[in-house]
Amino acid sequence: GGVSLIGVPTDIGAGTLGSRMGPEALRVAGIAPALQALGVKVRDRGNLQGPANPWLAAVNGFRHLPEVALWNRLLHDAMHAELRAGRLPIMLGGDHCLGIGSISAVARHCRASGQPLRVLWFDAHADFNTATLTPSGNIHGMPVACLCGQGPEELTGLADRVPAMAPADIRQIGIRSVDAGEKRLVHDMGIEVFDMRCIDEWGMRQVMEHALAGVDHRTHLHVSLDVDFLDPDIAPGVGTTVRGGPTYREAQLCMEMIADTGRLGSLDVVELNPALDVRNQTAELAVDLIESLFGKSTLMRQADG
Ligand code: ARG
Ligand code: MN
Ligand code: MN
Ligand code: MN
Repeated sequence: GGVSLIGVPTDIGAGTLGSRMGPEALRVAGIAPALQALGVKVRDRGNLQGPANPWLAAVNGFRHLPEVALWNRLLHDAMHAELRAGRLPIMLGGDHCLGIGSISAVARHCRASGQPLRVLWFDAHADFNTATLTPSGNIHGMPVACLCGQGPEELTGLADRVPAMAPADIRQIGIRSVDAGEKRLVHDMGIEVFDMRCIDEWGMRQVMEHALAGVDHRTHLHVSLDVDFLDPDIAPGVGTTVRGGPTYREAQLCMEMIADTGRLGSLDVVELNPALDVRNQTAELAVDLIESLFGKSTLMRQADG
């Protein structure tokens, strides 16, 4: 067992520079000692090294496709090696285009080990754009589509099969910004989305019960946490803020309910942009949430006593 931190310092898929500094901001906020204090063995693997961000315009609907593909190939291999070694990888992003490399590795590992996969995608955005639908060409708006087989082969073909993952394997939570064409594709692909209206009407507890329904003792749970999931009042350090997100307590409840399953197998923390943050508060908030995800609780839990 044990956790491996994999830093991926790039903003290659984003429309704002700065998430390349995310891994260091999370280290400065104390991610490793916070986990160690909970009894988790942590190995920091350092940062992957990849191509610089050339900051070019979109070509055929994609910005920086060759560089995005290379970063994701490196990440896929690093992530898969940790999983095969029986470790729990935490990918420190970097922008959300890295979900392609990360989750393709998790899906491949799950097939090899015969484990059902459940991806929980916490985000303000659906990230289901394609080259023709995207308003920006930024590939951080496309990772879920790529994982479901919609995209260029450089990005859909990283795992042992295409699509890397089935739409039925993912649940999206906190969604409140979806582009016009993207909306149709999310619907047509049958993605299960718990948007902000759903959280308002049902409350976070019921939403998470639904999102976790069917998770059993064999399931590999992957959490992909785009920090723009959180309300910008508490998480200003992101490039694509959307108002009206979950509160601190709602976000903590999500993480605590996942911890209670005991099935967390891998994690992405992405889109943290220290250049836009205020005194590293968004990184510190992410570390608070990760502590809950790894079982930190206020009182003794039933299972402990
Ligand atoms: N939907 C917008 C786009 O495609 C924004 C995507 C934001 N994605 C993210 N991972 N922050 O450009
Ligand atoms: Mn995202
Ligand atoms: Mn987002
Ligand atoms: Mn596993």
